[in-house]
Amino acid sequence: RRIQPEPFRIKMVEPVSIPDAAQREEALKTGHFNMFGLRGEDVYIDLLTDSGTGAMSKYQWAALMKGDEAYAGATSFYALKEAVKDVLGFDYVIPCHQGRAAENVTFGSLAKPGDKIPFNMPFDTTRAHIFNVGAEPVDCVIDEAFDPECRHPFKGNVDIPKLEKAIATYGDKIPLIMVTITNNSGGGQPVSLENLRQVSAVARKHKIPLFLDAARMAENAYFIKVREEACKSLSVGQILRACMDCADAITVSAKKDPLVNIGGLVCTRTEDLYYRILPRVILCEGFATYGGLAGRDLECLAQGLREMVDEQYLAHRVAQVAYLGDLLEEGGVPFVKPAGGHAIFIDAAAFLPHIPQKYYPADVLAVEVYREGAIRGIGLGALAFATKDEATGETVYPKLELFRLAINRRTYTNSHMEYVAQSIVDVYKRRDRIRYGLEVGFAPAAKGLHHFLAHLH
Ligand code: F0G
Repeated sequence: RRIQPEPFRIKMVEPVSIPDAAQREEALKTGHFNMFGLRGEDVYIDLLTDSGTGAMSKYQWAALMKGDEAYAGATSFYALKEAVKDVLGFDYVIPCHQGRAAENVTFGSLAKPGDKIPFNMPFDTTRAHIFNVGAEPVDCVIDEAFDPECRHPFKGNVDIPKLEKAIATYGDKIPLIMVTITNNSGGGQPVSLENLRQVSAVARKHKIPLFLDAARMAENAYFIKVREEACKSLSVGQILRACMDCADAITVSAKKDPLVNIGGLVCTRTEDLYYRILPRVILCEGFATYGGLAGRDLECLAQGLREMVDEQYLAHRVAQVAYLGDLLEEGGVPFVKPAGGHAIFIDAAAFLPHIPQKYYPADVLAVEVYREGAIRGIGLGALAFATKDEATGETVYPKLELFRLAINRRTYTNSHMEYVAQSIVDVYKRRDRIRYGLEVGFAPAAKGLHHFLAHLH
């Protein structure tokens, strides 16, 4: 195995400590066995999410001091607009406070009750925003996405016949098509440029706007560079632009690839789309040139957009996630192959086959991994994604029952990855003795969101 060392060094240290076994038990009880119920200090290595948890560069910290806090027309907004134009090619830029705010203003402005939104697969908050306006997503991802062992290089791809069928079935009930790059819910798997171009052609043919959920667009472009023959000689920056060229608009959680702790974007190609979305931004987020962010946040984001396409950074990032995957594979742990861009998704159904899905094996695994190593990951299975069939009242379980370890950007070292792998392999060795399930006690009524707040026992 080739060593892929970190292309950065540590300038400021954030001390973390490992809570002992008794503290972990106490924290689990206090947090109702829900990983969202733990406090930061209860956790040694926090892989709950790669969202807003990355380390900013010294250039971003320097940019922060340039923040112009003017309510309207801040210089920092124009710095962001310029970075978006340079890196992504869009002329119209709407800042918002994070990705789900971008979703709120997009679906709130463009979708109405009864509408259908074809997707590869939406993430949980995205799905919830679609439900929130009375619309429904239609998953059109390729079948390979549901086979954790299948090593398809672009498991996030849209199945074009499924998309065509959705359009034929729902016709003018489709206000937009959306593709998530990379496909987070399906294991952080990329979408090929070829596939994006096919989707774009279908969308154009039917005159339906194509949106990308572009939270992890740089990782997606890096995968295209290393996996798509036709793109080998292009830079990641060029590939990213080619992906963006397929879309009419994008929504972005800037807390992922754009390397900031808070921020989001909607970018559109046309003024028309911009003005259809903008009023809701002013209503929900803030004026058009700050969208709920401080001027300093806009500066950090402008800088982060430029840094996210750095190929040395991306090579290390993707290799670090793959390294964790390799170590788990050596220990026999089942996970979604190939390793994702931002995370390893352990196949909890295969890890704990004796626990029925209705007892949330992914979340049992989260509890056990926390117990073992004070490591926090998150269950993405029945607890997060099961739905009720309105007609029959029966629970519809998701096809995948995954436990995700999301790797923060530029934050943990390869030796942290070794500790994580060792702890999980230790849990795997004692998997037969994990003989309990979880049940939901208290959970607020919130379609698609109850897993964040559920009390488990
Ligand atoms: N789209 C995707 C693909 C995401 O993964 C997320 C967030 C969002 C949209 C929403 O963005 O958090 O800034 O409001 N995903 C995080 C995660 C929370 O842990 O995967 P947000």
